[in-house]
Amino acid sequence: MQTVVAKGITHGVYVITVNAGGKINGMTASWVSQVSFNPLMLMVSIAPGRYSNELIKESGYFAINVLSAKQDGEARLFGFRSGRDVDKFKNIAHFKAPNGSPVIESAMAYCECKLAHVFSAGDHELFVGDVVAAKLLKDVNQLLFAWDKFF
Ligand SMILES: Cc1cc2nc3c(=O)[nH]c(=O)nc-3n(C[C@H](O)[C@H](O)[C@H](O)COP(=O)(O)O)c2cc1C
Repeated sequence: MQTVVAKGITHGVYVITVNAGGKINGMTASWVSQVSFNPLMLMVSIAPGRYSNELIKESGYFAINVLSAKQDGEARLFGFRSGRDVDKFKNIAHFKAPNGSPVIESAMAYCECKLAHVFSAGDHELFVGDVVAAKLLKDVNQLLFAWDKFF
């Protein structure tokens, strides 16, 4: 069943970034979706063990960085190591969104969200946020998730 779901349900690839009192981090996520039109709300599904899960609850804000088709390197950099062990932003040019969330300069777009709800969902938690800032940085194609591209 997992294979059918992974092949059949389309996702992009994103880096979810956070700044909790100066501690900055980012993690790759593909389970991201718009969940409301008015107000504009987005959802990211994040497992409880992730460092980002803890930092977003502390910060109350997060940003969704949309990766472009050529950024599978960034997806790997942010997706296979924890910010508890390494500084994933060390060699990554970035700037701050209006509420302090780091934005990867080379990303195609970002949406900064104010955390509104956290819902439990099986072995993940759904972080739902109001979009408070958003910008298209490059009008290019986005990176699409494919199981065999990353795992
Ligand atoms: C392509 C890709 C997609 C991923 N999607 C998710 C996701 O949607 N939710 C999640 O909790 N982890 C996802 N991960 C795993 C996290 O990015 C990974 O565990 C990361 O190291 C967590 O970093 P952190 O501990 O610094 O927060 C994904 C990883 C990859 C490579």
